[in-house]
Amino acid sequence: MKAQEKIQQRPRLTGASVGIPPRHLNFKMPDNKTKYLVTNNATATMFLVMLSAFFPPGERFFVESVRHFRSRAKDPALKAAIAGFIGQEAIHSREHERLNKFLTERGFDTTFPEKAVAGGLWLLEKLSPRQKLACTTVMEHFTALLSEALLEDEALASLFDPEFLSIWQWHALEELEHKAVAYDLQELVGNDKKLRLQASYFVAGALLPPVMISWLYLIAREGKLTDRKDLSTGLQLLLGKQGIVRRIIPKLPIYAARRFHPNKHDTTKLENTWREKLFGDQGSLLSSWRNQPEVDI
Ligand SMILES: [Fe+2]
Ligand SMILES: [Fe+2]
Repeated sequence: MKAQEKIQQRPRLTGASVGIPPRHLNFKMPDNKTKYLVTNNATATMFLVMLSAFFPPGERFFVESVRHFRSRAKDPALKAAIAGFIGQEAIHSREHERLNKFLTERGFDTTFPEKAVAGGLWLLEKLSPRQKLACTTVMEHFTALLSEALLEDEALASLFDPEFLSIWQWHALEELEHKAVAYDLQELVGNDKKLRLQASYFVAGALLPPVMISWLYLIAREGKLTDRKDLSTGLQLLLGKQGIVRRIIPKLPIYAARRFHPNKHDTTKLENTWREKLFGDQGSLLSSWRNQPEVDI
C-alpha cells in the first residue's frame, strides 16, 4: 500500500478522540416553585444568573480568538483538540442562551448583564489577535478553577436546584476537559510572562466593572440590597472563608508564573469521577446525551 493511501485511511482525530467531546444534551429546566435556585437565596442566585448571561458573548469571544490562529496548528492532536474546544464552547453558548430564556421567563433580567459584559468585551476586541488569545487563556484559567471548585464542593451542590445544578456540572466538566487547548495554541503563536500579565490586567479592567455593576443591579432589582440575611448568606457561600470564589483567588496568580501550564494543576482524577457520575453507565445525564459516541461522535 502506498504511503498516501495509508494516510488517507488513517481515521481523522476528532475532539472526542482526544478527550474533548462536544456533547449535545437535552436539559430539563428547573420546575420547582421556589423563586431562587440556590437555597432560595437571591444574592447567590443572581451571581449565577449574571454568569449565565455572560457566557454566550464571552464564549463567542473565546472561540473567535482561537479560530483566528487555528490554521497555525499542524499537529493532528492539537487540531482535534481545537475542534473539540470550539464545539464544546459553541454548545455551552447555546445551552446558556436556553437557560437565560428560562431565567428571563422566571422574571430575572439577563439582558442587562449581557449588555454590560458586551461593553467589556468590546474593549478587549480592540486588542491585537495575540493579546485577545491571551485574554482567552486568562479567562479559561479562571473558568477551570471555578469549575474545579464547583465539582469538589458537595455542600454547595446540595443547595442547588437539581436541574439547575446539572447544567453547571456539565459545563464545569467540559471546562476542565478543554482547559489547556487555548493555552497550547498560545504557546504556538508566542507566549511569555509579560503577555500573560498584561492580559490579566486587561481582563480585570474590562470585566470586573460589568461583574460588580450587573450583580448589584440584579440584587437591587429583587429588592434584596437591604436584606441583610439574604446578602450575608449569599456572600458567605461565594466569598466567605469556604466560599467558592474565595477558594480560587489564591490560585489565580499561578497563571503569571514563568513555567505556567494549565495541565500542571492536575484535575484528571476529578474529571474521571465526574465523567462517570454524569455520563457513565449510571450517569445522571446519560439519558439526556443525544450524540453518545456509538451514535454520532
Ligand atoms: Fe464554556
Ligand atoms: Fe472554556
